[in-house]
Amino acid sequence: MSIAAPRDQWYVAAYGSEIRHELFARTVLGEPILFRRSEHGEVVAHSDRCVHRRFPLSQAPSRLVDGQVVCGYHGFTYGTDGRCVAVPGQTRVPRTARLTAYPVVELDSLVWVWIGDPALADPTRIPRAPYLASPGYTTVRGMEPLAARFSLLVDNLLDLSHETYLHGGYIGTPEVAATPITTEVDDEAGVVHVSRHMDDAECPPFYSRSTGLQGRIARWQDIEYVPPCLYKLHSRIAPVGSVPNPDGTDPDAFHVEVVYAITPETEHSTHDFWMVARDFALDDEEVSAFLAENNRTVVLQASRPSTFSSGCSRASRTATRSSRSTSTPVAWRRGGCSPGWPGRPRATPRPRPRAPPRPDERWHPRSATGPRR
Ligand code: FES
Ligand SMILES: [Fe+2]
Repeated sequence: MSIAAPRDQWYVAAYGSEIRHELFARTVLGEPILFRRSEHGEVVAHSDRCVHRRFPLSQAPSRLVDGQVVCGYHGFTYGTDGRCVAVPGQTRVPRTARLTAYPVVELDSLVWVWIGDPALADPTRIPRAPYLASPGYTTVRGMEPLAARFSLLVDNLLDLSHETYLHGGYIGTPEVAATPITTEVDDEAGVVHVSRHMDDAECPPFYSRSTGLQGRIARWQDIEYVPPCLYKLHSRIAPVGSVPNPDGTDPDAFHVEVVYAITPETEHSTHDFWMVARDFALDDEEVSAFLAENNRTVVLQASRPSTFSSGCSRASRTATRSSRSTSTPVAWRRGGCSPGWPGRPRATPRPRPRAPPRPDERWHPRSATGPRR
C-alpha cells in the first residue's frame, strides 16, 4: 500500500491517557502498531503482527501474561523490548525473532510515533503544543475516524470560511467568510500561517456560552499549521476594542487553542484527533462538557451523508469553496471517498413522477440535516 504521506515523520498515534498497561492497537501509515506502557510507565510501540504467522497480537486470544505478550495463535511470547523470549515446543529461540520497534515519545499529553527510518527519529523535531498539558489550561478532546486521505482534512482546516455556512449556530458567523485572510509560508520553520482578525463580529454560541461574553466581539483566528500532522488554531475572543498589551499580556481576552493532530491511518482513512484548550473557567465542568459536545458536533458536521452526497458509491462528503481561497476544502468521514479515488460510476438517475407529499411526510430541514447530538 502506498500512502501519499511522508514516512520519516512524527505522527500522533494516541493520547497519553489512552495507553495504559493493557495492549492498545492503532494503525498509522498502514502499519498496525501495538502500544503499551512498560512497568516504568513508558510507552513502547512494536509491530502488532507476530513474527511467526503475523497473527494480531492485540487481538484475543493474544494476551498479556506477567508483562509479556503471548501470541494467540501458537504462543510465541514477547518481552517489553519486542524480543521473542519463548517458542512453545522448542528450547531455542531464534535471535532474529523480534517485533519491529517504533520510536515513540510522549509529549504535551500526546503519544508521537516515528514510522520511517529509526536512525532519523529526532525528538526535537516534534511540533509542540505545551498548553495541552499545562495547568494554566483545561483541555477537552476526542478522536473521530475519517474515511478520507489525510490531505483532505488539512484542506478543510486551512480554509475556515466554511464555518459561516457549515457550522452556523456553533462557531460560524457571517464575518468569518467575509473577512480577508493573510497567508504566509515560513519555509525555514516549516510552518504555514493563516490569519483572520475580526475586530467587530457577532459572537457565536460556542464562545458566548463558554466565555459569558455578550454582544459584539473581537475575534481573531491565527492558524499555525506544521505539515503534515499538526494544526493549531489560536483563537482570541475579547470585547470589541480590546487589544493585547505591548508586553504581550492580554487580560481582557479569552484564549482558546484548537488543535488537530492529523494522522494517516491508511491511504483512504485518517485519525482526526481534536482538542480544545482554554485559559478560562478552568474548573467549570459545564463549560468543559459544552465545549466537548459542541466541538465534536462541529467535527461531525463534515460527515453528514444526508446532507452531502458525492458521485462515488461509498461516499458521504462535504465540499465548500471559498471565493478567496485557492483551495477547495473537502472532508469525508467514514463511508466516504476522495476525488480521484475511483468510485463505482453511478447511472444518471431518471426523474420519476411523484405525488405531492402529505403534510406529515414533508422534508424538514432540521430533521434531515441538523447537527448530530
Ligand atoms: S502466529 Fe504467532 S505464534 Fe504463530
Ligand atoms: Fe469545519
